[in-house]
Amino acid sequence: MTYIVFEGIDGAGKTTQAQILAKKLNAYLFHEPYPNELGKYIKKMITSQLYTPETYATVFAAQRMIFKDEVLSRKLKTEKWVIGDRSFYSSIVYQHAFGANLEWLKEINKYMIVPDVTFVLDVSVETFLKRRGETNIVFEKKEFQEKIRELYLKLPQIYPHHNIIILDGELSIGEIHKKVIEIVEAYENK
Ligand code: ADP
Ligand code: TYD
Repeated sequence: MTYIVFEGIDGAGKTTQAQILAKKLNAYLFHEPYPNELGKYIKKMITSQLYTPETYATVFAAQRMIFKDEVLSRKLKTEKWVIGDRSFYSSIVYQHAFGANLEWLKEINKYMIVPDVTFVLDVSVETFLKRRGETNIVFEKKEFQEKIRELYLKLPQIYPHHNIIILDGELSIGEIHKKVIEIVEAYENK
């Protein structure tokens, strides 16, 4: 079993790359927030500014733990490839960017399954704006995305023992996919 995750700011190309890779490897693919009842509720929460970063962190962690028990742990035993479009790293980055304490975020996410390979797709916020357009959702504001991008670039320092690879998300879809395949193959052959 190999568990691969795509991370990055909104519009970085995570879903595009996760889908292409999943098709190629015939992998089990999931997206966070997972579309269970709690995940759907979280989607509603995201569109409101009512909640503190600690509340978001708690519900995201709860939905992730439920998903792990219900699905992920089993899939990691039965599938050769599992691909995550986002993971607990999103909570570390997004909820910390909103002000939640980093050590506390690491603590409440410490029972999550660590991916074998994590790709952070790095794009400029200008690219994000071009791809996504202006939006009213607070999580998708320009200034906020700048902060998120910086934190994603620091992720390898936040988790020095995890296998986190920063990739240039400004390359073409095909070029990024080629790099992803090379890294996955190198991981498998090591
Ligand atoms: P995310 O899942 O990170 O939010 P998506 O994969 O949904 O991003 O991509 C956002 C938009 O950008 C989509 O319209 C997609 O077709 C486009 N896109 C994705 N990757 C690239 C790329 N490398 N170059 C140009 N456009 C891209
Ligand atoms: P979504 O519409 O699913 O965005 P995307 O397609 O980019 O994944 O909304 C998820 C939003 O929630 C996105 O802005 C990132 C944010 N998020 C967190 O703040 N914390 C988390 O733990 C996760 C998984 C997502």
